[in-house]
Amino acid sequence: MATYHDKLKQLDHTYLWHPFTQMQEWMGEEPVIISRGDGHYLVDDHGRKYLDGVSSLWCNVHGHRKKELDDALKEQIDRLAHSTFLGLSHVPGINLAQQLIEIAPKGLQRVFYSDSGATAVEIAMKMAVQYWQLKGDSQRTQIASLAESYHGDTVGSMSLGFSETFHRFHKSLLFPVLRLRPPHLFRYYQGMSEAEALAAAIQDAREKLAEHGSTLAALVMEPLMQGAAGMWAQPVEYLRAMSELCRSHGILFILDEVATGFGRTGKMFACDHAGVTPDILCVAKGITGGYLPLAATLTTEEVFAAFLGEYQEFKTFFHGHTYTGNPLGCAVAIANLELFVKENIVENMQPRIAALRQRLHDEFLPLGHVSDIRQWGYMIGIELVDDKAGRKSYPAAKRIGHQVILEARKRSVMIRPLGDVIVLMPPLSIADSELTTLLDVVHDCIVTVTGN
Ligand SMILES: Cc1ncc(COP(=O)(O)O)c(C=O)c1O
Repeated sequence: MATYHDKLKQLDHTYLWHPFTQMQEWMGEEPVIISRGDGHYLVDDHGRKYLDGVSSLWCNVHGHRKKELDDALKEQIDRLAHSTFLGLSHVPGINLAQQLIEIAPKGLQRVFYSDSGATAVEIAMKMAVQYWQLKGDSQRTQIASLAESYHGDTVGSMSLGFSETFHRFHKSLLFPVLRLRPPHLFRYYQGMSEAEALAAAIQDAREKLAEHGSTLAALVMEPLMQGAAGMWAQPVEYLRAMSELCRSHGILFILDEVATGFGRTGKMFACDHAGVTPDILCVAKGITGGYLPLAATLTTEEVFAAFLGEYQEFKTFFHGHTYTGNPLGCAVAIANLELFVKENIVENMQPRIAALRQRLHDEFLPLGHVSDIRQWGYMIGIELVDDKAGRKSYPAAKRIGHQVILEARKRSVMIRPLGDVIVLMPPLSIADSELTTLLDVVHDCIVTVTGN
């Protein structure tokens, strides 16, 4: 007799199309069907527990079914599940905005809500382009971004973060963007030292901005770590240099902290490491502790003020979504921010970040097929290559990264790679023993799959 799992599997295979998933492969494999969460674990429909090693796609902060977050949600649902933010306001939306501004880099003053990282970035771009037109600087219509950056999957954010693998079929839809070459040693600056690569990357930006600066509305970048590119880390100096270059060319500086925000890099925001304030800051993922789709685009009073005027001047920012600022999301986001304080989340991470760095350096880096490890806080990429000395990748068909995660799954750890880069992104509240398990298992899986 068919089990409940068999039934679910058949329905999944009949009706669903999963994101970023080769469905031919998916339909040939046994699906893991998650039925509940428990702290830092996901539990499947057979009752099997998996350590959530990538925070459910980089968004979980305090674990699953965290009492304070559950309670906040239940309380809010007894008041109001949803009401529009277009021409109306609501209590959790107002309170969250105040709290976001309190923790955000100094100088940011206004919060515009949406519902995903991609929309937060779209809004930032539209704000920037409209801002310059309202200011009368109407030639500033272009956007600059970092090569291979990722900002989401809407058409504007795809234009910003073009990747040949992801977007080659959609080129016709995308608008041109000026691309700066980030200081990623192995892709762009082979044979250089880190300091030389940094200098070369800053020079690349300097030259491109000197040529195009006056037509640029904004530079958009992922600060300190280009996540989906494969965890490409940048030194703090690069972030500072980009901020200064934008200032000197009068370009708006937009930081996409969708992945790096809310403690992920070891400070509340990645830009706190560099002491820089962007003109526009995009946040999502961890804003609700990983519970609900909510995002925000924060900006300065200077940008905001440019949009003020009589209605008939039509300076209004005509942008919004049905679920903009959803009250349930806002209520859980407030509880999330309270937990950061109550549980000293960012402080407690510090010794663990150092211990992680040590173990990665001592035990992973010497492995014969680990060519590089990049870390900012709890954001880690372990790059696997076929030939370490020549830094030659594995053939794509070998799916080495995928094999490692399948091995990890057998050992009850859930991770997800970026090609052959193994990503570790544990929930920020993960316990020492669980971190140890995560590293032990991933080490074992890399050795099993790569053969050393
Ligand atoms: C830096 C960055 N920006 C934007 C996004 C898109 O966020 P969302 O998937 O919520 O649209 C992501 C998602 O991983 C991201 O890493």
